Amino acid sequence: MKVAFLASEVNPYAKTGGLADVAGSLPKFLVRQGAEVRTFMPLYREVRKKSLPLEPVLDKAKLTMGGRSIPYAVFAHRAEGVTTFFVDHPGYFDRDALYGTPAGDYPDNAERFGFFSRAALETMRAVGFRPAIVHAHDWQAAAAVAYLRFVHAGDPFFSGARSVFTIHNLAYQGLFGKEVLPAIGLPESLFNMNDLEFFGQVNTLKAGILYSTAVTTVSPRYSREIQTPEFGCGLDGLLRSRAGVLHGILNGVDYQDWDPATDPLIPRNYAPGDLAGKKACREELARLFGLALQPGRPLAGMVTRLAGQKGLDIVCEALEALLGQGLSLVILGTGDRKIQDFLAAAQKKHAAQFGLKIAFDEKIARTIYAGSDIFLIPSRYEPCGLTQMYAMRYGTVPVVRATGGLDDSVEEFDAAAAAGNGFKFAEAAPGPLLEASARAVAAFGRPADWSALVRNAMSADFSWGRSAETYLGLYEMIAAS
Ligand code: ADP
Ligand code: GLC
Repeated sequence: MKVAFLASEVNPYAKTGGLADVAGSLPKFLVRQGAEVRTFMPLYREVRKKSLPLEPVLDKAKLTMGGRSIPYAVFAHRAEGVTTFFVDHPGYFDRDALYGTPAGDYPDNAERFGFFSRAALETMRAVGFRPAIVHAHDWQAAAAVAYLRFVHAGDPFFSGARSVFTIHNLAYQGLFGKEVLPAIGLPESLFNMNDLEFFGQVNTLKAGILYSTAVTTVSPRYSREIQTPEFGCGLDGLLRSRAGVLHGILNGVDYQDWDPATDPLIPRNYAPGDLAGKKACREELARLFGLALQPGRPLAGMVTRLAGQKGLDIVCEALEALLGQGLSLVILGTGDRKIQDFLAAAQKKHAAQFGLKIAFDEKIARTIYAGSDIFLIPSRYEPCGLTQMYAMRYGTVPVVRATGGLDDSVEEFDAAAAAGNGFKFAEAAPGPLLEASARAVAAFGRPADWSALVRNAMSADFSWGRSAETYLGLYEMIAAS
C-alpha cells in the first residue's frame, strides 16, 4: 500500500499545532503496519534553520502554473521508516512564518499551497513513487485532490490513485478571490456553487471534500457535529451529502515521544508507580511562572493557541472566579492580541496565583503537561484535541468542554466506581466551566479519589495503533473500489 501524505506542517520539521503532530506520527504507525509512506511538505525557513542533513532529490525542476514557469528543488530526509520530501521554492517558503504574520495571512497563500500541492504530485512522478492513495490534509493540501481530478485525469502515472482528504479544522477553509483558480492552474469553470464557489469566493477546502474518494475527520463526534449548522461553518449541507464517505477517526499519541518516564524536556522523569518526579516537575513549574502555591490546592495548566476556538474568552470571563476556587493557573500560548492583553493585565493583578507566557515553546509546554495537576480545555469546538491526551499520559487530569474529540477521549469521573479520567461540561459558558473546575478542585482534596483519577488518566490508551489500522482499512477499501 503506497501512500503519499501531503501536509503543510509536519513534526519535528515545522509545527504550529496538532496537524504537525498527526502528520509527523501517523505515517510511522502506518509503516509499522506494512504501508509504504512518503510525506510531502514545503521547505520553510524554519526547516532550513534546523540544518538537517537533507538529501538533494530534484534540482532545477520547473512547473507551469497559471501560465508562469516556477522553478523548484526537492530535498528529502528519512526518519523512522518515513521519507519526507521538502518542496523548495524560496520565494514562497523562505519566510518568517508558515502562514502569515500577526498582521494577517500572507496574501499569496492560495498560490503558495497550490504550488506546493502541484509540486508534490510532480515529485511523486519524478522519484517513481506511484501512490495507491494520495492523503491530503486540511485546505493547504486540498488542491492536490482537485489536480488529480482535473489536471491529471487520464494521466497514466496517477491512474488508479484514490484520494483521502482529512479535515483537521473545518473553520480554516482557504477562502480567496475568484482569480486564484487560473493562478493555481484549475479551470475557471469550477467557480460555481456545485464546485468551489462559496459565497462569492473560492473555497479551497471544498475541493478536498468534493473531489476526494473518502473524507475523514479526526474524531467520531466531530464527524457528526460538522454535519450540523452549529459546527458546519457553512459546509454542513455539503458534508451531509458526503456522509456516505465521511469517517471520524480519532487521532492518537506517539507514546514513545510522549512518555514522562523518558521525556528529556521535563525537569524530572516519573512513571505511574512512582510520582515523586511529578512533584518535582510541579515545583519547577511554579518556580518558572513565579507562583506561590497554596498547600492542598491544585495547579491548573493550559497549552493552547490563543484563538476563539479554544474558549479563551470563557476563561477570561471566569478567571477571577476560577482563582477564587483556590486553584493556581498557568497559561502558555500565542495568538489573538486582545486575549493576550487581557491575560497579561490579569497576570499582573494575580501574579502569585496566575502565570502567563506568550510563546511557542516545546520545553515549557511539556513542563506544563508534567507539572500541572489539572489541564484546562474549554474549547468552543475541538476536532480532536491532542493536549488532553498528552496531559493524561503525564498524570494531569483534564477539565474539558464536551465537544468533538474532547468528548470522545475524556470520561467524567465517577467517585463511587473510581472510574473516569477527567471532568466535562456541556455548555460553552463560564458557569458550567466553573462547576466542572469546582468538581476537580474538590476531588483534588480527596487523596484516594485523586489517585484513582491520575491512575485512570495515565493508563488511558490513545496509541496510534488502532487508528492507523482504521486508516489502512479505509485505504484498502477505496483502493479496491
Ligand atoms: P490545535 O491543533 O487546534 O492547536 P491540538 O490539541 O490538536 O490543537 O494540538 C496542539 C499542539 O500544539 C500540541 O502538540 C501542543 O502541545 C502544541 N502547542 C500549542 N500551543 C503551544 C505553545 N504555545 N507552545 C508549545 N506547544 C504548543
Ligand atoms: C486541528 C484541530 C485539533 C486537532 C488537530 C490535529 O488543529 O484544531 O483539534 O487535534 O487539528 O488533528
